Amino acid sequence: AAAPASAPAVAAASAPPAPPPPKVLTVGTDAAYAPFESQNEKGEIVGFDIEVVGAIAKKAGFEVKFVNTPWEGIFNTLGQGDRDLLVSAITINDERKQTMDFSDPYFNAQQLIAVKENSKVAKFADLKKLKVGVQTGTTGDEAVTKLLGKTSTAIKRFESTPLALKELEAGGVDAVVADNGVVINYVTNNAGSKFKAVADPAAFAAEQYGIAVKKGNAELLGQINKGLADIRADGTYDQIYTKYFGA
Ligand code: ARG
Repeated sequence: AAAPASAPAVAAASAPPAPPPPKVLTVGTDAAYAPFESQNEKGEIVGFDIEVVGAIAKKAGFEVKFVNTPWEGIFNTLGQGDRDLLVSAITINDERKQTMDFSDPYFNAQQLIAVKENSKVAKFADLKKLKVGVQTGTTGDEAVTKLLGKTSTAIKRFESTPLALKELEAGGVDAVVADNGVVINYVTNNAGSKFKAVADPAAFAAEQYGIAVKKGNAELLGQINKGLADIRADGTYDQIYTKYFGA
């Protein structure tokens, strides 16, 4: 028999109000920076940064949708409201702090030099008479520009770090300067190409990555920092770290 016509109305009236659907925040990332962010064979965006933000979102009670976003212009997407937050191995620095706000640091980094295995480069200053590839607008670009000079034609700038590394393979540049995690990942996973990483800790500043939000978005920043503290406290952060970088 059919249920009484009044039943649904009664049920609806006595049911607690449905919780609002979780907020979906759009996260911009330049997904060509393994192991921090890259696209797998299925086209999914994966990596250390992705898992960290995913875990923070879970704690903070919002959902995230990652959108591959070219590095060049990535910072502008916050101001325009196209992205709610950015996670992209972004080094926190004073210049960037003028135009966006950063979470507490979630990762320590430093620049590292990638060269061919037979290269004589032993320190950063050795790059002075060489051609050097960098990703435009990165801290690697900044360091190399300082070393070689603003007008140097020996600096080859690329829109992505993989393109710079391809040029190293092709012999168009003698070295690439990029974040240590990315250079190590590249050298380890391209054994056939015979590259090595050259460290020069004295020549490069210590860097820290932060998650970026639109300047003044204190509410979201607070949620992110709380979530980050939570995943550090409960071991989730360490689990993700170990998965990507070992113990
Ligand atoms: N840490 C460096 C910077 O902030 C490089 C970051 C590049 N990130 C990327 N996903 N391409 O300049």
